Amino acid sequence: MHTDTNISLQPFHFFASEEQAKYFTVIKNKEDVTDAIEWCHEQNLPLLILGSGSNVLFTQNYPGLVAKMEINGIKKINESATEVVLEVGAGENWHHFVSYCVHKGWGGLENLSLIPGTVGASPIQNIGAYGVEVHECIQQITAFDTVSKEWVQLSKQACKFGYRTSLFKEYTHRYIITQVQFVLQKQPQLKTDYGAIRDMLHEKGIKHPNLESVSNAIVQIRTQKLPDPKILGNAGSFFKNPAVSKSQYEHLQEQFPTIIAYPISDDSYKIAAGWLLESCGWKGIKKGNVGCYEKQALVIVSYGIRSGKEVFDFSEEIIHSVANKFKVALEREVNIY
Ligand code: EPU
Repeated sequence: MHTDTNISLQPFHFFASEEQAKYFTVIKNKEDVTDAIEWCHEQNLPLLILGSGSNVLFTQNYPGLVAKMEINGIKKINESATEVVLEVGAGENWHHFVSYCVHKGWGGLENLSLIPGTVGASPIQNIGAYGVEVHECIQQITAFDTVSKEWVQLSKQACKFGYRTSLFKEYTHRYIITQVQFVLQKQPQLKTDYGAIRDMLHEKGIKHPNLESVSNAIVQIRTQKLPDPKILGNAGSFFKNPAVSKSQYEHLQEQFPTIIAYPISDDSYKIAAGWLLESCGWKGIKKGNVGCYEKQALVIVSYGIRSGKEVFDFSEEIIHSVANKFKVALEREVNIY
């Protein structure tokens, strides 16, 4: 196995800070996965699988092996009159894959257009946007289980998907995902209920949307609202939308009548973290080389950080201010190393 030593991680993650990996390698196939695990075991070093680095923050040099996932390929493995099943390599770029499906006329993932990252990372935090979560189209996942030391096929149920969570979050670093199987619809049911999609389609004068127009509308919404990571380093929403009990929500609503929240079950609510941050005055605030994006407070942006610690410290301040004002605990959505 080829490894490079003391490699700058700057080109490999969206915050683009200057931490280094002690060792670095690239994974092109399943054998590279087992080689990397064995190598780390022999050297007694930790292993970190990196996709495109769209959801990570390095706050220090990584002491082990960073392995960049580059297993590619989109393969049709089944097709019926109504559905198509695809097996996709973990290293495929997410948006390219979504565009491929849209182009083919296969529906299900179009609302997840332009989400940064790779196919293999998508189930880990169960990416979601505009009323759709990726688990809705996932059938099965191929992964190496580093505990039982065998290749496993995980069914959708086994993956325990929830809001921004899954089995892979519960057992961090245990499973190395190499392929994801998706089921897509040949007669797509478009989901255009989300206010922003309806408004965009209306604005563009589209009365009878199709996969392509929905995907294009979402690309436009995201481009208008979210910062381009090539210009301002960021990892999308930095925090999750916190869940609170119904009684806590009602109490908050009495004190803060404009609070934005959605019921997620009979006795719990999800609060819009962006609203919490904006209400604490963070939107558009810049401190040193870090700031809260001016159009969406939930996105922390870099104005040229050298160390991810700068972002981490800024996020700590936000967590404290939200806890002080609202007694709500914010949880980071970005993975910190
Ligand atoms: N809001 C504010 N101030 C802000 C930001 C948002 O008041 O600065 C309010 C908005 O007005 C809206 C509500 O909060 O009423 C929700 O905002 P938005 O629709 O922008 O969605 P979000 O909850 O902030 C989530 C996902 C995004 C995804 C969007 C669209 C999480 C943590 N984030 O954001 O995902 O694109 O919904 O569906 O669930 C990501 O995970 O990186 C990401 C960008």
